[in-house]
Amino acid sequence: MSNLEQTLSIIKPDAVERNLEDKIKTVFKNEGFKIVKEKKIKLEKKDAEKFYKVHETKPFYNDLCEYLSSGPIVVMVLEKNGAVLDNRKLMGATDPKKAEDGTIRKEFGLSIDKNTVHGSDSLDNAKVEIDFFFAH
Ligand code: CMP
Repeated sequence: MSNLEQTLSIIKPDAVERNLEDKIKTVFKNEGFKIVKEKKIKLEKKDAEKFYKVHETKPFYNDLCEYLSSGPIVVMVLEKNGAVLDNRKLMGATDPKKAEDGTIRKEFGLSIDKNTVHGSDSLDNAKVEIDFFFAH
């Protein structure tokens, strides 16, 4: 049975800065994800604050928004059966030190902040996050 989903992925500033964009896209493609939309942008801090609004009460919120708006990022819509969960698995744990072998954050992540990629954590959030970047 088909369970085709779309999820939002962001290649974060630490990875773009280290020229990892193509390598990371290859990882997604090799795992069966289709990149159906993509763009490279640089966010204003106020946009990062809107994007990460769910985290606004967290102590790391300001640093997180500073960081996401600190340099170019690549935002992508990834599509495959079970895309949301499969992308979460492929990214690995938020903290690269805790990420499993073979995951993107284990291989490329530098720290819990500079953890290379973001991915939607649920199908509902995927829709909201895709709209945030690609609705207009
Ligand atoms: P991301 O999946 O983009 O979602 C929120 C981000 O907050 C997360 O990745 C981390 O990079 C960042 N972050 C910083 N500190 C923490 C923390 N203590 N717990 C969870 N996320 C954190």
